[in-house]
Amino acid sequence: MEKGKVTLSVIKADVGGFVGHSSMHPSLLERAKEMLSAEKEKEFLIDYYVTHCGDDLELVLTHKWGAENEKVHKLAWDIFMACTKVAKDLKLYAAGQDLLTDAFSGTIKGMGPGVAEMEIAERASEPVIILMADKTSPGAWNLPLFKIFADPFNTAGLVIDPKIHEGFHFEVLDIVENRTIELACPEEMYDLLVLIGAIGRYIIKAIFRKGDHEIAAVASTQRLNLMAGKYVGKDDPIAIIRSQSGFPAVGEVLEPFAHPHLVEGWMRGSHHGPLMPVSFTQATPTRFDGPPRVIACGFQLNRGRLVGPRDLFEDLSFDGARKLANEIAEYLRRHGPFQPHRLHLEEMEYTTMPEVMARLKGRFKS
Ligand code: F6R
Ligand code: MG
Ligand code: MG
Repeated sequence: MEKGKVTLSVIKADVGGFVGHSSMHPSLLERAKEMLSAEKEKEFLIDYYVTHCGDDLELVLTHKWGAENEKVHKLAWDIFMACTKVAKDLKLYAAGQDLLTDAFSGTIKGMGPGVAEMEIAERASEPVIILMADKTSPGAWNLPLFKIFADPFNTAGLVIDPKIHEGFHFEVLDIVENRTIELACPEEMYDLLVLIGAIGRYIIKAIFRKGDHEIAAVASTQRLNLMAGKYVGKDDPIAIIRSQSGFPAVGEVLEPFAHPHLVEGWMRGSHHGPLMPVSFTQATPTRFDGPPRVIACGFQLNRGRLVGPRDLFEDLSFDGARKLANEIAEYLRRHGPFQPHRLHLEEMEYTTMPEVMARLKGRFKS
């Protein structure tokens, strides 16, 4: 914890769906709010906001305790456990899905929930945008984050704002080798793209402004399926992005989502689909359990208080993206069980391949 700084922690988990994996029962949101309001009263938290994107419970917390604080993580864990109990009592679907262990051991990282945190010295005005997605995976942020912080056709500020003209550093996580690398844009852009174009392996973890190395964005990077060694649900991602004066403008942060790019994770975590930007109320994926959704919560931080959120994709200028996403969804759905709608064999979270191969053994001729 650093004096005068405020920490923004966004922690999420799927602890039970309503109905199926499509949305969240209000009683889970209520339980989370009750517990967080008690912590705000005790002044452990400065502020909080609770919402959901599809079947994922999203906790937005502000406090003075720094990133990766054991007590903050324990609080989030306790809330997920309590909400799991509510989900179990109501026999909601897949209660406790993302909680991989029973006992908390110092950090919530590696235990199933997704985490994105940043400790910052609040600027004179501090607009932040929190992205939350359902029916996809952490690699879904690579393309939009690249566009926001490195593509001059997206972010006019890279060309015309002296404060960001120098560019940004991208910290990339190799989720297979569990190692990170930092690459500078624009000069190492092509190296960066060779990595982050492979969205199943190289994931943008954080972005820093060049010069002062000020944190600009962080994303959740856990992959439940690699962590658990077996399929235990998808790792629907979150990201925090700072905006305006010295960072991309709000409109530059949202602009990539006007193009509903293809992501992994639709239906049984085994299909590609377009990422559709939606309002809070439309974050309820029901067509073929999708298509994948993203919501954007805009806040002004005020000494750690969360002023907001504004529902940033509610704007009618995203109607075209939604229409296009639904057309792409329709087009892909016609491929049924064929790639590229169905994911590559290694990326599928459901497969009958071993059983089928065992049964067909001996019938292959060479
Ligand atoms: C879950 C998801 C869904 C499920 C599907 C089957 O986030 O994407 O498509 O994978 O509804 O769920 P089960 O196997 O739990 O019946
Ligand atoms: Mg679920
Ligand atoms: Mg989900």
